[in-house]
Amino acid sequence: MTPSAPGRISELRLRRIFDSRGNPTVEAEIWTDRGERARAGAPSGASRGVHEVMAFPEGGVEVALERFRARVKDQFVGQVLGDQTAFDTALREADGSPDLSTLGGNTTTALSLAYALVTARAQGLPLWRSLAGGTHDPPVFPALAGNVLNGGVHAMGGPDIQEFIVLAEAPEISWAVEGMVAVHREVGRRLRERFPQAALGRGDEGGWVSPLGNLETLELLVSACQTIQDRGLRAGLSLRPGLDLAASEFFREGRYVYREQTLDREGQIGFVQELTDRFGLVFVEDPLDQEDFEGFAQLTAQVGRGGRTWVVGDDLYTTDPGRVARGMEMASTNAVLLKVNQVGTLTETRRVVERAEAAGAWTVCSHRSGETPDPWLAHLPLAFGSRGLKTGVLGGERMAKLNELVRLRSRES
Ligand code: PGA
Ligand code: ZN
Repeated sequence: MTPSAPGRISELRLRRIFDSRGNPTVEAEIWTDRGERARAGAPSGASRGVHEVMAFPEGGVEVALERFRARVKDQFVGQVLGDQTAFDTALREADGSPDLSTLGGNTTTALSLAYALVTARAQGLPLWRSLAGGTHDPPVFPALAGNVLNGGVHAMGGPDIQEFIVLAEAPEISWAVEGMVAVHREVGRRLRERFPQAALGRGDEGGWVSPLGNLETLELLVSACQTIQDRGLRAGLSLRPGLDLAASEFFREGRYVYREQTLDREGQIGFVQELTDRFGLVFVEDPLDQEDFEGFAQLTAQVGRGGRTWVVGDDLYTTDPGRVARGMEMASTNAVLLKVNQVGTLTETRRVVERAEAAGAWTVCSHRSGETPDPWLAHLPLAFGSRGLKTGVLGGERMAKLNELVRLRSRES
């Protein structure tokens, strides 16, 4: 179908809403002169990388709303649909600061996505297909990374390691979702068996908060993955363990301070390598501090060869094209995490995808710990040809993305 001539923006709004942690964030809504309408909310992180753009200007969401009224609301009326680069560039100019501290990266993210969504609607296309512009068609569905146990800043009283992950791959996306849920349940069952009297809670991303140490929690995850894998739920379903260490969160004065041990840089590289080999980890995110491009490269040379383990940069890159270019030159990682609101627009996120792709690295689209129930994230791996989607296992705001993927799959069949 050839999209008809694009319409124009007739109205934009920005409002304060709340994320899954109950913190204020923003939602943008855009109308066109032909009566289409779309809205998008922006998520928020808790373990934020230091090189992320500012989520909100100083003074918070209220100041973002004021500045939106002063610099965007009327000025963007009349802009033509269908030119994401022009829209995002105009947003950057309206902000005028390198770290988006005038409007806030969450404001630009919500607007960038609302614009993409209303364009897709005007074209009569799903978001991913509109963004892909004829590429990645038919779509390849991503491997799913789901958070089974939470620690770090996402869980009170949990281990230091932030996320104990299952990486699920299957010929059918809904089988991968089922597999992740089964591993989550199995971990819950074992925790209850082991701590019959304890009050067991869940963290910000829906994973269990384990009352165990780092190593024991990992053993629990690995063994639960194995049990469910061995059950053979579906042909071709693969459930393998991984970690997001978010190591910058427990990096103090040059050392990695765990509750059980303190390691220097070489010690940390050796420790992560040992865990990867011993437990067959297939996904290792932010194993080192966010400034240690060289240390990442050492680890990737050891465990990432041939794509055996995905070594993923999140806080290391903060979806910043310049930092990703540096990491690709140094072979710091073989995978790059994408969070639109770390950089503020879809256009810059796409630039990161291009840099990663040119270096032969994979990309993984990711949620934030504070999410909205918006489904738009599910479209990004299809649009960008990403190998992975990281969006948790349970919780309505996480399931909204997984269910959208299931919907997209059923439309393609
Ligand atoms: P955040 O963390 O959304 O709280 O920043 C998620 C992650 O580190 O992947
Ligand atoms: Zn991370």
